[in-house]
Amino acid sequence: MSYKEIHIPGDKSISHRAVMLGALAKGETIVNNFLMSEDCLATVDCFRKLGIDIKMTNDKCQMSNECKIIIKGKGLRGLKRAKEVLDVGNSGTTIRLMLGILAAQDFISEITGDASIQKRPMMRVIKPLSEMGANIEGEYAPLKVYGRKLKPITYELPVASAQVKSAILLAGLYAGGETKVIEKNPARDHTERMLKYFNAKPGQDFAGTTIDVPGDISSAAFFMVAGALIQNCELKMPNVGTNPTRMGIVEVLHRMGANLEVKDEQILSEEPRATILVKPSKLQGIKISGEIIPRIIDEIPIIALAATQAEGVTEIRGAKELRIKESDRIATVSSELKKLGANIEELDDGVIITGPTPLKGGKVKSYGDHRIAMMLSVANLIADGQVKIDDVKCIETSFPGFKKLLGGLV
Ligand code: S3P
Repeated sequence: MSYKEIHIPGDKSISHRAVMLGALAKGETIVNNFLMSEDCLATVDCFRKLGIDIKMTNDKCQMSNECKIIIKGKGLRGLKRAKEVLDVGNSGTTIRLMLGILAAQDFISEITGDASIQKRPMMRVIKPLSEMGANIEGEYAPLKVYGRKLKPITYELPVASAQVKSAILLAGLYAGGETKVIEKNPARDHTERMLKYFNAKPGQDFAGTTIDVPGDISSAAFFMVAGALIQNCELKMPNVGTNPTRMGIVEVLHRMGANLEVKDEQILSEEPRATILVKPSKLQGIKISGEIIPRIIDEIPIIALAATQAEGVTEIRGAKELRIKESDRIATVSSELKKLGANIEELDDGVIITGPTPLKGGKVKSYGDHRIAMMLSVANLIADGQVKIDDVKCIETSFPGFKKLLGGLV
């Protein structure tokens, strides 16, 4: 069997954390396979404004394995007050995790982002940080952070969110004693793994290191579904992250009957990665809810597309968090797939999709949301007629080179 091999760019969540912990470490941190996307570059830009020297070895290294950055970390107390406002662009991970770090500095910071970021809830982070002693002005970006001495807390997460968990854990580095986060349904644990990898302990400086970032499974998800739906297309994706807190997409596709294999797993920099193989598959509808939701939170738009081609009913529930992502993904997935002829019902906390329905072409909108734009781009490959998407530039936030890679499949 011959497979077409494609290289999925570095993991977004891990790339953000590598910059953050690399900046707080003492000495040089090298990040291999760093994701050169707009979101991750926003994190780089914020730390440069905070006085950290970060070098890119190749600015135009999209889709190769040579994206490498070198961070000259200055230790936990090495950041300097920024002369300008910190701008996170579209990146929720940057603003929420940075609030945890900025809250503990001995200077004031101002942080903001684009129109979408200014509408996304920040109180979920501000509340626990305030319990630690933080002083943050505002409820939505732009926010002003008056750095303070923090104290440790034990916090039970009211919503499954890796961003909230991570903001607290990063702030915890500056709080004497142990900071603990309790979660009901585990969200991605990259922060915990990377803290362990750096051997970071509250109140103590830790040394820089070398991090090998695996390919982003959330990006690979679009190709897993494309590979399952397109005829005569067999894909091989080496070095894709297989952290169990991100593997929900593989579980879901297996349950739907996808011809998908995960092999040759290895662990580097505390993060597992493997080769993923996918072949054309006959899919069936399934019920998705409960503890798996945080482990597929970014993959639901592309799962919804797969469901339109599956036999029977797919029901996704308990996913209200989707309403406060880069767009209201319950609304945008439902409205745009409906325009292409899908049988999809919008629920308060999910969707019900009945398939299979052949999709037709038409004019659709991405609402500036990268994952909606990529899902609709995959829909274009299987639709009878052209799917015209109003804005695909937003794909740059997480997956530079996506269009070329997808175009190579047909
Ligand atoms: C992320 C956590 C998730 C996810 C986002 C990245 C992270 O957000 O949707 O794309 O890197 O921690 P929430 O923590 O809001 O669920």
